[in-house]
Amino acid sequence: MKTFVVLPVVLQAAAVSAWGKLGHATVASVAQQYLTPNTVKQVQAILGDKSTTYMGNIASWADSFRYEEGNAWSSGLHFVNGHDAPPPESCHLILPEDCPPEGCVVSAIGNYTERVQNKELAAEQRTQALKFIIHFLGDIAQPLHTEAFGEGANNVTVFFDGYKTNLHAAWDTSIPNTMLGISPPTSAANITNADFLGWANNLAAKINQGSYRRDVRRWLRNHRLPANRKGAERAAAAWAQDGNEEVCHYVMKIPGNQLNGTEIGAGAGGDYYKGAAEVVERSIIKGGIRLAGWLNLIFDKRTGFEFWL
Ligand SMILES: *[C@@H]1O[C@H](CO)[C@@H](O)[C@H](O)[C@H]1NC(C)=O
Ligand SMILES: *[C@@H]1O[C@H](CO)[C@@H](O)[C@H](O)[C@H]1NC(C)=O
Ligand SMILES: *[C@@H]1O[C@H](CO)[C@@H](O)[C@H](O)[C@H]1NC(C)=O
Ligand SMILES: *[C@@H]1O[C@H](CO)[C@@H](O)[C@H](O)[C@H]1NC(C)=O
Ligand SMILES: [Zn+2]
Repeated sequence: MKTFVVLPVVLQAAAVSAWGKLGHATVASVAQQYLTPNTVKQVQAILGDKSTTYMGNIASWADSFRYEEGNAWSSGLHFVNGHDAPPPESCHLILPEDCPPEGCVVSAIGNYTERVQNKELAAEQRTQALKFIIHFLGDIAQPLHTEAFGEGANNVTVFFDGYKTNLHAAWDTSIPNTMLGISPPTSAANITNADFLGWANNLAAKINQGSYRRDVRRWLRNHRLPANRKGAERAAAAWAQDGNEEVCHYVMKIPGNQLNGTEIGAGAGGDYYKGAAEVVERSIIKGGIRLAGWLNLIFDKRTGFEFWL
């Protein structure tokens, strides 16, 4: 069994990855619950999908797109590298300077926010723009997508309940899978629609009970009209700062070179895992709330959370 799963783990380590399928589809499915009727109509039309999982179905599309021939240009759009000294000493992101001329997740959110609203573009281009927005608002809520140390911690080797992986992949996949009891804690696990819909429903229930009321207000602080390229870049810069701070607060509170080579799984005393699971839950909810508010601003000129705030 162990030798069987080594291959996908190594493949994932070779590339800079993102939330796995479970994380991205859950962010999208949480967002789906807070779209206004006007937004739902337009998003379903642009995606050409009226199924119950219309957002979750395409949430990981950008991660397969980037590996197709001719699409390598899009790989650098999934993250932004900060100035770290290294964490936890100081986490620091200077924007727009830290976004290279080829683009980063911040400029990409600006570009695709503009493109999805440009009626002169071919329908296919607007569909692509919407799929990128749904994916990148997930990525920007993963703290290690706003962090440079060890290539976003892709080169910090860790063991997760015995599986050899890296710290980035552990946050993308091992921790979320383990939170839901899905095995193995690697990208080899099969994720079903019931997995991400079930998780999104649980998270939405917590949100609706008011557990995150004050956070929701803070997460939407940068959602302002007009939702154009400039407004999107300004908001995305703040979201990236927020993720970068989380790296010093928790993800690499134990420095990367000390985590390197250690076991961080749920079975290993579980201290690192327990705190990490809380950060993952908050980050998935945060990504979902921001995505819903952002799509509502684009398609309905309001966040849809007015009565919450
Ligand atoms: C915006 O996106 C389009 C389509 O992916 C791409 O061709 C273009 O280079 C991007 N522009 C900027 C400024 O990133
Ligand atoms: C891993 O990242 C650290 C910090 O950025 C760097 O010093 C080191 O050379 C990297 N190692 C490899 C094997 O890429
Ligand atoms: C995932 O599903 C495939 C196809 O049904 C199956 O062959 C494989 O063993 C499953 N993997 C795991 C880890 O359950
Ligand atoms: C982690 O340890 C490996 C092997 O000892 C080393 O090659 C790598 O550079 C280390 N990574 C970091 C970020 O220190
Ligand atoms: Zn990604």
